Amino acid sequence: MSLLESLKWRSAIKKFDPSKKVSQEDIEVLLAAGNLAPTSGGLQPFKIVVVSNDDLKKKLVAASYEQAQVADASHLLVFAIEQEINNETVNRYIKRAEEVRGKEKEYLIAYSESMKSFISTMDEAAKYTWARSQTYIALGMVMAAAAEIRIDSCPMEGLVPGQYQEMLGLKSQKLMPVVVLPIGYRSEKDVHSKEEKIRKTRENFVIEIK
Ligand SMILES: Cc1cc2nc3c(=O)[nH]c(=O)nc-3n(C[C@H](O)[C@H](O)[C@H](O)COP(=O)(O)O)c2cc1C
Repeated sequence: MSLLESLKWRSAIKKFDPSKKVSQEDIEVLLAAGNLAPTSGGLQPFKIVVVSNDDLKKKLVAASYEQAQVADASHLLVFAIEQEINNETVNRYIKRAEEVRGKEKEYLIAYSESMKSFISTMDEAAKYTWARSQTYIALGMVMAAAAEIRIDSCPMEGLVPGQYQEMLGLKSQKLMPVVVLPIGYRSEKDVHSKEEKIRKTRENFVIEIK
């Protein structure tokens, strides 16, 4: 299947079949796709929390404006941004770079300094926006990877971040949920996926400068 065919197949599923579960093998494919997403400076200022517990998924419906996808989906992938972005964020990257690539000290020192200087220019609001932007690239990659193996998903911003943080025990880890991706398999009764996609015409979507 081409990527474009998969993206045409993909739809924001409102009604999942609660009896169908995504295998752990496929979950790992989706997580790997999210981890491979490019991020600004490679700093990856977010984590993905995987929720498969049925009771917890049911409880999270109340923190999701009563959207039933959260309970019916096989798993929830909760994308949570780091609330502390500072020199330690860069140090973590450098440590990992040394593990993966070996010591390339000169390059890493210069890189570390420039990234720390970049982070120091941002206030808390700017850091939030920056971290969130990175998260959405990973969200897109996970949705595309899911579509490729015909796993359904529904990107959802309709959640109360503070309630999710509380219910998932993320406060102590200084992680704030920003978007949740229920994944699973569509129910026969899902209506949205049977309808034609509504998108801008090419003319209204593209500006060509030659
Ligand atoms: C960032 C984002 C947040 C969204 N939030 C919700 C949501 O809370 N609930 C929901 O049912 N759909 C949500 N959607 C799905 C959109 O409504 C859907 O993608 C759009 O209508 C286009 O339909 P399609 O994805 O099936 O092509 C969200 C989509 C995105 C990208």
